[in-house]
Amino acid sequence: MHVAIIAVQSIDGCITRHRGEGAVGWASEEDQQHFRRALATFDCAIFGAGTYRADRDHIRPRVQPDLLRMVMTRNPDAFAGDGVADQLEFTAQPPADVVAELSARGRQRCALLGGQQVYGQFFQEDLVDELILTLEPVIFGEGLRLCDQPVERRFELAETSHLSPSTLLLRYMRREKGEVGNPGRSSEGR
Ligand SMILES: NC(=O)c1ccc[n+]([C@@H]2O[C@H](COP(=O)([O-])OP(=O)(O)OC[C@H]3O[C@@H](n4cnc5c(N)ncnc54)[C@H](OP(=O)(O)O)[C@@H]3O)[C@@H](O)[C@H]2O)c1
Repeated sequence: MHVAIIAVQSIDGCITRHRGEGAVGWASEEDQQHFRRALATFDCAIFGAGTYRADRDHIRPRVQPDLLRMVMTRNPDAFAGDGVADQLEFTAQPPADVVAELSARGRQRCALLGGQQVYGQFFQEDLVDELILTLEPVIFGEGLRLCDQPVERRFELAETSHLSPSTLLLRYMRREKGEVGNPGRSSEGR
């Protein structure tokens, strides 16, 4: 299974504006178009119940027959009325088991759609193969981040492009595990 994060963040690495929810109101229209295009290349998606709760009214009715969406929650029963088999399912399984189940059900490309807690656990368990990051030209100073845990995972920059004159799209691929980056570099300065 190939797992790719699709996310939009501020220059200073926030995935939410301050304590607000989601990217509505600050992510560009170009990013939203890119998100829809990118998501169409995946056959399944995983996200946390925090992200689901933040955007339930948009997520729930969005039916994409070829996209199985798995929502991680420790209490799936709380969402019993929202589930639709093979479309929108709720699971209490840990990250590696969710990925394994999707593979067992024949899915091959998984979009990891947040939020901070879920991204952090997938980085912790080294389950992220690719990062597709939109960088919006804004500083928030405070907000949720792409990762909430102390980890070190190295990626190669695979592609840069512009979604608009001010909005960058960065695509990173996971380096081979165990590969050391910049081994001879001095720790002085940056
Ligand atoms: N800018 C972006 O690209 C972007 C992308 C995604 C999300 N976001 C934003 O990020 C925010 C949400 O992030 P978040 O960190 O608060 O929440 P989150 O990661 O979306 O979800 C956290 C929830 O997931 C469930 N969960 C986490 N780990 C689990 C595990 N191992 N097993 C089972 N369930 C587990 C728990 O749900 P229960 O409490 O139900 O048990 C937990 O409260 C929202 O505002 C969203 O809009 C931004």
